[in-house]
Amino acid sequence: MDKSPTASGFDLIAPIYDPLSRLVFGNALRKAQAHWLDQIPKNAAILVFGGGSGWLLARVLSGCAPRKVIYIDVAPAMIALSREKVNNDSRVEFRIGTETSITADDRVDAVLTPFILDLFTEDELKNRLLPILYKSLNDNGLWLCADFAQPKTEWQRAIMWCQYRFFRILSHISADRLPNWQLLVTNLVLAEPQQAASFFGGLVVSTYWRKSAD
Ligand SMILES: C[S@@+](CC[C@H](N)C(=O)[O-])C[C@H]1O[C@@H](n2cnc3c(N)ncnc32)[C@H](O)[C@@H]1O
Repeated sequence: MDKSPTASGFDLIAPIYDPLSRLVFGNALRKAQAHWLDQIPKNAAILVFGGGSGWLLARVLSGCAPRKVIYIDVAPAMIALSREKVNNDSRVEFRIGTETSITADDRVDAVLTPFILDLFTEDELKNRLLPILYKSLNDNGLWLCADFAQPKTEWQRAIMWCQYRFFRILSHISADRLPNWQLLVTNLVLAEPQQAASFFGGLVVSTYWRKSAD
């Protein structure tokens, strides 16, 4: 199967992604991703979408004690690193692919979208990705999202500008600016986030929604 330009781009940066993100953001992105994990009940089925090199997966396995994790990433190199990091843990079903690899039978108690929604345009999020993720979530399930917030200062705008140039050139992502993912998820879930926390001077936010039972 031919790799998409996005997959090839993230394959290329897979070995340096974590050190690079730490160089720019210190521990903020990791803290944001881990912040609400304790809200996930034990023994849950969890979908991690765009998980990256596996750091979060290791935290999910050790901290949440899930019965099953569906771990999806478009970049084969990210999946290979993740497999290695968790020693091919048998609770994890690794899938190299996009949202199209989520099937109608996939039903989970928690969806995790760590620094992935920012790669899509608002149109793609609203009309394709978010509805697919939402459908996979059981009633009362949790949707944890850590991602960037709209920049408020000059230095934050500069960081976001550099990031979008970097990922558009290297990974051919479709977005050229930050989508309003918080509003789009809130509109879809028809509920405000349960809680939210800010990091890195407010440029990073970690939040979660609960899918209502009706
Ligand atoms: C910005 S990185 C974030 C990685 C990780 N979540 C983290 O914060 O360290 C985005 C990740 O999403 C993956 N990705 C990009 N587009 C994707 C898509 N359409 N479907 C699944 N994964 C995708 C990339 O391969 C990459 O691992």
